[in-house]
Amino acid sequence: MDTLTIARPDDWHLHVREGALLKSVVPDTAGQFARAIIMPNLTPPVVTVDRALAYRDEILAAVPPGATFEPLMTLYLTEDTPPNEIQKAAECPHVHAVKLYPAGATTNAASGVRDIKKVYPVIEAMEKYDLPLLMHGEVVDSEIDIFDREAVFIDRHLSPLIHHFPKLRMVMEHITTENAVTFVTEQPNNLAATITAHHLLLNRNAMFEGGLRPHHYCLPLIKRERHRHALVKAATSGNPKFFLGTDSAPHPKGAKEAECGCAGIYTARHALAFYAEVFDRADALAQFEGFASFYGADFYGLPRNEDSVTLHRQVVDVPETVDFGGVAGVPLRAGGQVAWSVS
Ligand code: DOR
Ligand code: ZN
Repeated sequence: MDTLTIARPDDWHLHVREGALLKSVVPDTAGQFARAIIMPNLTPPVVTVDRALAYRDEILAAVPPGATFEPLMTLYLTEDTPPNEIQKAAECPHVHAVKLYPAGATTNAASGVRDIKKVYPVIEAMEKYDLPLLMHGEVVDSEIDIFDREAVFIDRHLSPLIHHFPKLRMVMEHITTENAVTFVTEQPNNLAATITAHHLLLNRNAMFEGGLRPHHYCLPLIKRERHRHALVKAATSGNPKFFLGTDSAPHPKGAKEAECGCAGIYTARHALAFYAEVFDRADALAQFEGFASFYGADFYGLPRNEDSVTLHRQVVDVPETVDFGGVAGVPLRAGGQVAWSVS
């Protein structure tokens, strides 16, 4: 199969930042995807519906003429989020979820949640109004090895959440381990998971190949080969609990190549091609459309896209750097090639 036409996909986990950087990255996503769930971890974070709507306007203004792209907004959950903001969010047609960052877990997570029990009343409102909870599923605990933080989050926080809120729709974002795949598979259908291209393509050796590789540093960290293998199996299985979420996270080159480099990998420019490579290698292109274009929309209760995109088996060069609003950014596989092109 050298050509693959699928319903236009959506990206169910994306960072576009603000200002000049936002303007430079939105066209990469809008060129391939119809919609994207926009992460709220700005500084300060997007904690109110009004702010989410203003942020949405900023994103829409960066969509190139002729393209149609719909940003699906989210709120950033804090210990101060009032339950009535949840009702407002649920009634707003542009807000689609609330994101839980454990405080300190990742980029701009300082205002996140320290004690999940404290936000149970807010989560109760989410369950009541059927607004999905998206989770950065890692514990922040210096005694827990950083490679084990996802598995411990499942035991300590996710299992109790599922028990307390049996009707709440939840997405475990960017899963990275076999434990997460097994757990999500075994739970009822109100729990789903997104999977990034980089966690499908790389194992943790990529962070240390011949030296320290800051452009392969993201959170949750990329794990062992057996975990990558489990993720590929889940993504290509046809199980609708697993769908596409790039977690494309632009940081300027200088902020990555630094004494304390930022977490995040920029994949948006060639996102669909990266995923197509994974499915192709797994001999599972027949499952690609479900993962990329159907299951996320179904989970969020949104219509599937009616137009389509076509992928060609055609090698494309990945640039050494991309423009991040006047500064350089380094995309995944910079200076290399990707095996598919999108038209
Ligand atoms: O690697 C990451 N980068 N993981 C996250 O959870 C956040 C993201 C970012 O915003 O840069
Ligand atoms: Zn993210």
